[in-house]
Amino acid sequence: MIQRPPLAGVIGSPIGHSKSPRLHNFWLKRYGIDGFYIPMEIAPEHLGKAMRMLPKFGFVGLNVTIPHKEKVLALADEVTDTARRIGAANTLVFGENGKIHADNTDGYGFMTNLRHGAPDWDPASGPAAVLGAGGASRAVIVSLLDAGVPEIRLSNRTRGRAETLAAEFGDKIKVQDWADAGDMLAGAALLVNTTSLGMVGKKPLNIVLDDLSPDTVVTDLVYTPLRTELLIEAEEIGCKTVDGLGMLEHQATPGFERWFGVKPEVDEKARAVLLGA
Ligand code: ATR
Repeated sequence: MIQRPPLAGVIGSPIGHSKSPRLHNFWLKRYGIDGFYIPMEIAPEHLGKAMRMLPKFGFVGLNVTIPHKEKVLALADEVTDTARRIGAANTLVFGENGKIHADNTDGYGFMTNLRHGAPDWDPASGPAAVLGAGGASRAVIVSLLDAGVPEIRLSNRTRGRAETLAAEFGDKIKVQDWADAGDMLAGAALLVNTTSLGMVGKKPLNIVLDDLSPDTVVTDLVYTPLRTELLIEAEEIGCKTVDGLGMLEHQATPGFERWFGVKPEVDEKARAVLLGA
């Protein structure tokens, strides 16, 4: 009997901007796997039905993006502890019995990228300063806590969102006013930008970097441009910097492995595919 080629994809609305199809289809080709990865625009009102129907069409799993990442938790049959703590899922695996398993690999992607880019960074060595308290920040915070970071200094334009995270994740989270975000940098071992500031078409991130030491590792989740103003200025100070593109690559590997049975390699070629080169 000829087996059906495995199908996977990414669901969201809108979906045209997603770079995931490029990456997964590059890996499928590289490993000679007879499968397909498809972008699918799915409106919120069709989400539940789509999640039930897609396994019947031959889908082995999905990536999930905005605006469905939170809603899929309630629709899944099993949710990992990590996804539950982050409050969102980005990776679904469909079991043979049709069961939907939901996980979140954003924190894994963040941490793996950081460890590759800054191998000398020791999570236990000092506080992390985190800018932003949105969905991406939740994944970063969970991964930093799991890695053993002793303190997370958190600043967000809307202070209440940072306070909500502090109430949820405990007293290792120290909230700082957005106007004084630069004050978090003294003695920080890590600085992470999880806001959209500094992205092409968005406002610049105007954080005072006077207290930034050359010993602080600096990373930005923004990857358009690859070298953000924050990373450029941090490099001028002498900091080790890590760009955000690697997070996108590494968050994709657990899904690919579970759906297609091969752990894909993150390398310069995969990076070039994402950069459109
Ligand atoms: P994501 O899932 O990418 O984190 P999000 O939940 O919309 O997206 O969060 C975006 C983050 O960027 C938030 O921390 C947001 O701050 P608010 O919570 O105050 O909205 C931050 N952000 C976006 N535009 C900003 C701006 N002009 N100034 C400061 N922070 C901004």
